[in-house]
Amino acid sequence: MKILVLGSGAREHAIVLALRSEDADHDIWAAPGNAGIGQDATLVDVDMFDAAAVSSFALDNNVDLVVVGPEAPLVAGVADPLRERGIPVFGPGMHAAQLEGSKAFAKKIMDQAGVPTGRAVYARTSAETAAALDDLGAPYVVKADGLASGKGVIVTSDRDAALAHAEQFLPAGPVLVEEFLTGPEVSLFFLSDGDTVRALTPAQDFKRAFDGDAGPNTGGMGAYTPLPWLPGGVDGFVDEVTRTVAEPVVKALDENGSPFIGLLYAGLIVTPAGVRVIEFNARFGDPETQVVLPRLAAPLSRLLLAAASGTLEDEPAVAFRDEVAVTVVLASEGYPEAPITGRELTGLDEAAAVEGVHLVHAATALEDGRLVATGGRVLNVVGVGPDLATARARAYEGMSKIRLEGGHFRGDIASAADAG
Ligand code: AMP
Ligand code: GLY
Repeated sequence: MKILVLGSGAREHAIVLALRSEDADHDIWAAPGNAGIGQDATLVDVDMFDAAAVSSFALDNNVDLVVVGPEAPLVAGVADPLRERGIPVFGPGMHAAQLEGSKAFAKKIMDQAGVPTGRAVYARTSAETAAALDDLGAPYVVKADGLASGKGVIVTSDRDAALAHAEQFLPAGPVLVEEFLTGPEVSLFFLSDGDTVRALTPAQDFKRAFDGDAGPNTGGMGAYTPLPWLPGGVDGFVDEVTRTVAEPVVKALDENGSPFIGLLYAGLIVTPAGVRVIEFNARFGDPETQVVLPRLAAPLSRLLLAAASGTLEDEPAVAFRDEVAVTVVLASEGYPEAPITGRELTGLDEAAAVEGVHLVHAATALEDGRLVATGGRVLNVVGVGPDLATARARAYEGMSKIRLEGGHFRGDIASAADAG
């Protein structure tokens, strides 16, 4: 198959690795990609926000499938013109991508679809924010409406900090003040062709920068799957979320005339009162994808093409291998506030030689033959094994071989994995 993957992070490298491992004969291009993706795909200089350029590339090269990795080009509407030109594209159009692009839109759809979520109030001014904070009580949760690269949400017991956070975003429009929900977080991905959905398998992401869930929120410092502690077991949980969340949301969007074709990411909190949605994303999660895809027991290209072509109904439930996968993210010094980039990264061959370990690049480039870090989250070390202890030990042994001056990673990813 001829596949074009848009994006340059670890999520896109994980997707490319899954496609490459299922069939060495696939023609895979990535735009713009990174140094790791360049080992498994051909990097091309096509602007992923430029739908005309992407369409021309796809048509000129007889591309069978375009996979849009990140949210920004989806929200900017890159998928619609491709689809209009008959190119199968995995990724929702501009309107359906608002599920991630606007928290207000997501709440409206959840309302329409009867999906369980936290109680929320829209505040347009500081005074309205203060009233909403007092109404919902501490701890306070305040969310910017639009895409904010992981910086839009604050969860705090400090009322002044919650207000200050709101004031940062209020000039651009209303903020969402949400009820605080207690319980473990779970990410569950669904493939959708606009009508039929097929669940992948739940994973957990570690969002805080430092061990013990200390420090600021990040894009994600590690992840693991499966989650044996889920209420109802993994299968029961997946069935419930499919029925109560994914299917109603996809139906509501279809009824509104903007079918969701792509990856529906449900960000969930398992509260004592049941599962609640805290957010939707319109693309694969990072770093969860790095652990979900290695367990996939079906060809990814086939599933993505079925979603892009409206034939998911013909696909069986998606199967996963009975293995554990753990990923640990190596970040640059100063991440997330002010990452220092440009430093050399070494030891990758030794790390990849550890049994059950593979590397997924997040922000790397080759400069004069040296591999350098080009962003905050640099590299994922993924350990796969028959059980959690083995997978974890493998990931950390792999990480111990990597050298990056000032680099940091969490030492406690999946350490309490049996408890949630
Ligand atoms: P979001 O970008 O909506 O996923 O929020 C970022 C993080 O804030 C989530 O991963 C949660 O840890 C936390 N969070 C968001 N909403 C809530 C909520 N209603 N209650 C508790 N924590 C939340
Ligand atoms: N893992 C969080 C995200 O992809 O948004």
